[in-house]
Amino acid sequence: MAEEELCFGVEEGVNVDECEGSYERMGRPVYSVKLFDKEVVVISSHKIMLETLAKKNSGIDVAGRPNDFITWDIATYGYKDIGFADYTHKLKTHRRIATKSLKVIGEQEWTTIISNEITQLLDRFKQKDDKAFDPHADLVMVSFNTLCKLIISKTYQFDDPEFQRFLEWNETMFTEIAGNPADFARWLSPLVYSRLTNLRRISELRYQFMKKKLTYIIQSFDKSKKIRNMIDQIILERERLENKANPDMTAEDVYSEDHIIQLTMDLVCVGSETVVALIKWFMIQVMHNPDIQTKIHSELDKVVGRDGMVMYNDREKMPYLDAAIWETLRYPSITPLSVPHRAIRNTSIAGYDIPMDTLVMVNDYAIGCDPDVFDEPFKFKPERFIDCESGCLIPYSKMNFAPFGKGPRSCLGEKLAQIESFVVIGNIMNQFEVHIPEGSAKPPLIGVLGLSHNPEHFRVTLKARKS
Ligand code: HEM
Repeated sequence: MAEEELCFGVEEGVNVDECEGSYERMGRPVYSVKLFDKEVVVISSHKIMLETLAKKNSGIDVAGRPNDFITWDIATYGYKDIGFADYTHKLKTHRRIATKSLKVIGEQEWTTIISNEITQLLDRFKQKDDKAFDPHADLVMVSFNTLCKLIISKTYQFDDPEFQRFLEWNETMFTEIAGNPADFARWLSPLVYSRLTNLRRISELRYQFMKKKLTYIIQSFDKSKKIRNMIDQIILERERLENKANPDMTAEDVYSEDHIIQLTMDLVCVGSETVVALIKWFMIQVMHNPDIQTKIHSELDKVVGRDGMVMYNDREKMPYLDAAIWETLRYPSITPLSVPHRAIRNTSIAGYDIPMDTLVMVNDYAIGCDPDVFDEPFKFKPERFIDCESGCLIPYSKMNFAPFGKGPRSCLGEKLAQIESFVVIGNIMNQFEVHIPEGSAKPPLIGVLGLSHNPEHFRVTLKARKS
């Protein structure tokens, strides 16, 4: 039962009115479940999610992360990253510095980097020559290179063995972390001994790989020269803090090298995994809904033209494409269960007392498929996010779901994810028609839950659009 509730919360195709109790049972606004040794409170209502995560005090009350998940501990060398780290003064400083450092690179530069990568992607896709293929590796390449370029000024060629190895390690790591029962009950560790050993081995390989890259950047940093990447900016920020905060405080105290390594892996790995999942779900949704594909093509023809490149600043002129991306974030959802939170003190949620250390999970999937908020929630309808009077995308605050989270632990890469997904999806759609390969079934809309919700591997046929 727990797995069913925690995987998705609401079942596709369940007619809530006819199937009495179904939504009520699985999508109650707040309920608690016991997962082995842990009491977990699950929130499935947008309103309660906002009250809990985004209001000034309650947001902080549940801003912690589970601090005894054995897999997180192994993967991050003792919670030295941002995503899995608990809510402490240090974490707040790290978040602030990381957010500022990402911004220093600037949206314009982000777009240029993504555009360079997309040109190569479109060329590779053209070479597929209408043949069915799995787009996964090509899409990972774009996303991974974009992030590596921004963060460590490095890009890889598709067949680079270093790139291929790093991808394999990441996939293994996500598999070993996702749903590992030892996180919920330490006494189960002997049963998953080989998984934990494998995770330790992979974490060490990833760590050594990233350490080599970062040592070079840290050693070659020259503050009299132009900032080359996000890590340069972090080094600058930690020097400022080191000087300002306390004469005895070293740069290592502010942001140790291990913390920088783990942050880089957070951004590169989580960032590429989520955006790639979004792009693949988008492709699947247009394979299921050819009429929507036609509308997107007609908007692209009006605004960009088939020989043009889609840029992020075209977004306002293309509300339909934008709305289709938001609709993919809603259903089938990229992070259906977000990232677990932990109450860092006694608090309350929707009037229920929540003791310190309780785990709190937000069921984004159930929120996005709440039939009281979204009519026909299991239908892909981009127009639900378009204001019928102005024809513009409705503001995020009125969408009634929050795929990037809210409050002190909200997604650090939200803006980057929006830019990247819009530019990559826009350009693929502008150049190609996306089809189900002849003789194949439609890829399913329920995938595999790892750190994010990914489609099963699928094949697609891309047909070049005629000018
Ligand atoms: C479609 C793409 C993405 C989605 C749907 C997404 C969604 C999320 C969600 C739901 C959370 C957890 C919020 C919470 O705990 O309440 C999160 C956290 C995070 N995301 Fe994203 N994300 C995406 C892309 C990215 C990208 C591109 C990056 C980095 C470049 C990134 C970096 C992070 C980090 C570092 C955190 C942890 C923040 C913290 O714990 O304080 N994400 N994201």
